Amino acid sequence: MMWTKCLCLLWALSALCAPVNKQRQRMLLISFDGFRWDYDRDVDTPNLDQMAMDGVKAQYITPPYLTITSPTHFTLLTGLYVENHGVIHNMWFNTTTTEKKPYYQTLFVNEWWDNGSLPIWITAQRQGLKAGSLHFPGTSSSYQGEVAMVREVEPILYNYKNETAWRENSDKVMGWFRDQDLDFVSMYFGEPDGTGHRYGPDSPERQEMVKQVDRTVGYIRHLAETHGLTNSLNIIVTADHGMSNVYRNGLVEEITLSAIPGFSFRDIAFHLVDFGPSGMLLPKPGKLETVYSALKGAHPHLHVYKKEDMPEHLHFAKNDRILPIILWADPGYVINGYFPVQFHKGEHGFDNQEMDMKPFFRAAGPAFRKNLEVGPFESVNIYPLMCHILGIEPEVNDGHLNATRNMLVTSTGTRGENRSILQNTLTGIAAVAGFLAVVFVVVTSRQILKRKRKDKRSGSVQHLPEEENTKQTGF
Ligand SMILES: *[C@@H]1O[C@H](CO)[C@@H](O)[C@H](O)[C@H]1NC(C)=O
Ligand SMILES: *[C@@H]1O[C@H](CO)[C@@H](O)[C@H](O)[C@H]1NC(C)=O
Ligand SMILES: *[C@@H]1O[C@H](CO)[C@@H](O)[C@H](O)[C@H]1NC(C)=O
Ligand SMILES: *[C@@H]1O[C@H](CO)[C@@H](O)[C@H](O)[C@H]1NC(C)=O
Ligand SMILES: *[C@@H]1O[C@H](CO)[C@@H](O)[C@H](O)[C@H]1NC(C)=O
Ligand SMILES: [Zn+2]
Repeated sequence: MMWTKCLCLLWALSALCAPVNKQRQRMLLISFDGFRWDYDRDVDTPNLDQMAMDGVKAQYITPPYLTITSPTHFTLLTGLYVENHGVIHNMWFNTTTTEKKPYYQTLFVNEWWDNGSLPIWITAQRQGLKAGSLHFPGTSSSYQGEVAMVREVEPILYNYKNETAWRENSDKVMGWFRDQDLDFVSMYFGEPDGTGHRYGPDSPERQEMVKQVDRTVGYIRHLAETHGLTNSLNIIVTADHGMSNVYRNGLVEEITLSAIPGFSFRDIAFHLVDFGPSGMLLPKPGKLETVYSALKGAHPHLHVYKKEDMPEHLHFAKNDRILPIILWADPGYVINGYFPVQFHKGEHGFDNQEMDMKPFFRAAGPAFRKNLEVGPFESVNIYPLMCHILGIEPEVNDGHLNATRNMLVTSTGTRGENRSILQNTLTGIAAVAGFLAVVFVVVTSRQILKRKRKDKRSGSVQHLPEEENTKQTGF
């Protein structure tokens, strides 16, 4: 009887200490372009609210600078600041030929994207997982010769607002998870950015679009259920940047570079302006100081920096692609070149410390705690979070799991990673306990056998308790 009790204890101990049963974890990263952190405040968003109840909501997140679409999306995929991943603008450009390509055409310029950093798809695939991407900026490029296993790039002149197409795309992505057994998919929706630009972030049109986003989030989470993915699929819903009102028509003194005394485009070899509140200039040889001193302080809402003097928090300097002079405007303003040609009511591209530039963040799934609201964090930290949940070794990146670890239930994402000291200790104890139990069983069985022989000789039979036999097989 003593032996039985001891064995039971050992059994319980080792069962407790064995590594936690690891349910497979998958990840769907969804970006709704330009969904500002507070867009749920003036609209009913039952599905986003439900997602917060079932998971985690961040107060807001801080995007990297430059707060425009392609650079910030590539940060989500790599965990790198823009100066470190090299996708420094939506537009590919060549300062020698002065060629530029707009956003859509730049999606297909492979060397613009494949500039030394690996997006999470490639890293996941190299470690044996399966990855896909739908419409996410960067999808069409290869990286060191590799591409996402399943991918779809939107056709030119794509209608980014079509809710029917949003549902078809959601069906498609859930089909990839179920039928092609993917582990990771990134998915992109081009709204409410377009509506925010056109009508402004405070418009009823933007509010309507937020309702469409909300319905879509509800639809996707419903699909996860009907596709039998609830136990494995984690969903992050976030965005690349926010949106801010632009003022003009005499409401503000507009910034027009050609009107600034001492500044001339004749001193400029190449420029990227007329692109919202941000700009970059390459002065002609010997003209850097002339250009800089003409612009610096010329308008109270225009910030002018030499590349090497850029504020550290923007992490937008240490890259050869960044031009020698960087400009940005305060909220409310855009930077015009020769004369005002910009008519959007909403813009982004401002300093990432501006509250209007902050995106929203929700996450739910088996890896995430429930009904938890967390404070703000930088979007570079989403990449290490996703790698941890997927159980893959991340590439070198600018984020850290520290920033998001508190969102997680503790038992997930240990595959392929160093285990904590506690886990190692527990596993050690379990192994020792197991060994002792085996020794114990061997010794006792021999004793029992001996006694049986003795009993046989003496005529009485002693039965070995049932459970003792069954327990032995478990070790
Ligand atoms: C820019 O164009 C010039 C002339 O065609 C070419 O020599 C150079 O390699 C190009 N630079 C980049 C970064 O594409
Ligand atoms: C990144 O692109 C720049 C040109 O824009 C090029 O000079 C550099 O070699 C590229 N780096 C890598 C690692 O591809
Ligand atoms: C919206 O998408 C659906 C499905 O792809 C398509 O049949 C329909 O023509 C689209 N409508 C518009 C207005 O683009
Ligand atoms: C992460 O947190 C640990 C423990 O709090 C701390 O020792 C470490 O320095 C942190 N690392 C970073 C990069 O913040
Ligand atoms: C695991 O531990 C080794 C040795 O201590 C270290 O070199 C490696 O970076 C660690 N990996 C992770 C993911 O922490
Ligand atoms: Zn965007």
